[in-house]
Formats: sequence, C-alpha cells, structure tokens
Amino acid sequence: MKKILITGGAGYIGSHTAVELVKAGYEPIILDDFSNSNPNVINRLSEILGKDVIYFEGDCNDKEVLESVYAAHAFEGVIHFAAFKAVGESTQFPLKYYQNNVGSLTVLLDFMQQKGVKNIVFSSSCTVYGQPDQLPVTEETPRKDAESPYGNTKKICEDILVDFVKSKAKVRVVSLRYFNPVGAHPSAKIGELPNGTPNNLVPFVTQTAAGIREKITVFGDDYDTVDGSCIRDFIHVMDLANAHVKALAYLEKQADCFYDVFNVGTGNGNSVLEIIKTFEKVNDLKLNYTIGPRRPGDVVKIWADTQKINQVLGWYPQYSLEDSLRDSWNWEKSLSGELA
Ligand SMILES: NC(=O)c1ccc[n+]([C@@H]2O[C@H](COP(=O)([O-])OP(=O)(O)OC[C@H]3O[C@@H](n4cnc5c(N)ncnc54)[C@H](O)[C@@H]3O)[C@@H](O)[C@H]2O)c1
Repeated sequence: MKKILITGGAGYIGSHTAVELVKAGYEPIILDDFSNSNPNVINRLSEILGKDVIYFEGDCNDKEVLESVYAAHAFEGVIHFAAFKAVGESTQFPLKYYQNNVGSLTVLLDFMQQKGVKNIVFSSSCTVYGQPDQLPVTEETPRKDAESPYGNTKKICEDILVDFVKSKAKVRVVSLRYFNPVGAHPSAKIGELPNGTPNNLVPFVTQTAAGIREKITVFGDDYDTVDGSCIRDFIHVMDLANAHVKALAYLEKQADCFYDVFNVGTGNGNSVLEIIKTFEKVNDLKLNYTIGPRRPGDVVKIWADTQKINQVLGWYPQYSLEDSLRDSWNWEKSLSGELA
C-alpha cells in the first residue's frame, strides 16, 4: 500500500480524507500537533476504518519530526493540510500565520526534495479569488489581493509551489482551491470541531439548533443576490476528501516538475438564507435568526466553475446540499463527552 503523509490529518478535512485514502487503497500516515483538533479523532477514524490508524503527534515545521515519521514509514506522497485557518485571528497575529502556514510548506518541500518524495497536494482556498469580477470563477480567474494574512498565506504558498516547480525541482504538485466545506462523515463519528465561536456558517447554524448559540445573524440581506444575502459554493467534506484521492492518482501519472491547480466546489451558489431554510427543512426544525448589517470584507458571491476538475480528474460531487446539512446536524447531535 502506498503510504501518504497527511499533515493536519486529525483536522476536519484531513480526517475525512484519511477515510477516502484507505478506501482507495492508500495507507495514510497522519502527522498532527493537535493544535486545532482532538486526539480522539484518531480513535474515531479507527472505528470507521475497522483498523488502527498510523499517526504521529508533532509539528510539521520540525524537520526532526519529519525525519522520524519518514524513518518509520517512507511515504511516497504528501497531502499538506496543516495550517492555521482563522481569518480574524490572522489579522491579529499575522506572524503566527505566516510562520505556520508558509513556514511549514517550505520545510516540507525541502524535506521532500531531500528524500526524493515527489507528489504533493496542497490545501488552497477560493479565498485567493477575493471579490471576483466574473462568475463562476475558473482557475484562470485572476487572483486578487488577499483580504487577510490567512488568505495571503494561501496565495504565497501557491506562488512558492509554482516557483519550486519552475526551479526544476523533481516534484509534482496539485493545489486544490476549496470552496466551502460542509457536512460530516455519514457515520457522524467525525466532523468539524470548531474551536470557540465558529467562523463558518454551518457550524454556527448547527450550534444554534443545538442551543449552544442563541441566534444566527445574517450579515446583510440587501446585496445584489437572489434574496439579498451572500452566496457561497458549499461542498460536502466527503466529496472534497475524494478530490484529494483523485488528485494523487493524477500526480502519479505526471512527469517531474509538474504543477496544476483545480477548483473544488459543486458549481452551485447557495445563499446564506437558503442554507438556513434548507437546514430547517431537511432536519425538520426551526432556527432562530436575525438580519444584521453587512460585514466589512465579506465576499458577496462566489461559486466555482468545476469543468476542469470534472474533465481532467473525472471528479464529480456525489452529495447534495441536503445531504451536507443533514450530516452536519447528525454530527452536532452526536457531539458529547470525548469530542464535545
Ligand atoms: N475548512 C475550510 O473552510 C477551508 C477552506 C479552504 C481551505 N482550507 C484549508 O484546508 C486545510 C485544512 O483545513 P481544516 O478545515 O481541516 O482545518 P483544521 O484546523 O480542522 O485542520 C488542520 C489541522 O492541522 C493541524 N496543524 C496545524 N498546524 C500544524 C503543524 N504545524 N503541525 C502539525 N499539525 C498542525 C491542526 O491541529 C488541525 O488538526 C487548511 O490548510 C485550511 O487552510 C480550509
């Protein structure tokens, strides 16, 4: 079985990707410092997979940690999820974000080159498009100046990867620009575990439904959109996880010094109010929400053109928005004890 290092593999997207990797015949090797995840996720993964999961607790910025992981499990590829991702916090502590998000990529690439590990899939984000001038956004849509240090780290990391490939380094790289991951594994054993007040809409919705938050504030209902609220492209985390497996298989067929980038979204935009209403409908409950003022810096509308990933990787989403919102709620309801 091909061993794949997944940095940040105990996190939200990484843990679901571990499941998809095993399904596809890979052996995931998780490296996580649990700075934004719960070690019990590893046990939950073992329950889902019916076998032990290989994991290491450590910082992927630390070359010695990488050495010890590699000595035990000579991995053939890397999926680099590990990063800090709180946009607001990144404006307060930019260096923390540049150090971890950008620093870890440079350490990892250097290590890969030294060991002759060629394939890497990088977690980028649709945040690189900023407020787009045209919709849907394709991979050719110009990237905009980042609105936050977090967003800038994604842009810089993409640029580092491009420059590294241009330098004739013997690597093959895919950057995946994620749109808005939602949902959870259908077993409700793993899902998103926000630290403190959620930054993303759906965890806020599920926590409100669970009575943890009093109400949801919709930031603006007077934008130029179908119902005045902001629009995003919500992608089920299992579909997103599967895109990584497809990206790895694609990289295995490429020659050295290869770079490519794909949007990973559904190709559909849904408004914040649509999410609230669909959540109420599929889960048969009522949410307490209110309309508030616009929030400075919010992208009004964005959704992906997915033709490239459909055609080149043969990847299509399998889960609907309803599936996502049902799975998110089942996950929230299951949260107690060890993971809550
Ligand atoms: N969730 C989103 O909405 C979203 C959207 C676009 C891009 N991304 C990117 O996808 C990746 C994964 O996101 P996620 O939502 O799963 O986040 P997450 O916080 O749930 O997972 C990241 C994991 O990385 C770990 N980690 C952080 N720094 C580390 C380090 N130096 N060494 C080892 N482990 C470390 C954390 O403990 C956590 O388990 C990130 O790079 C994020 O920026 C996420």
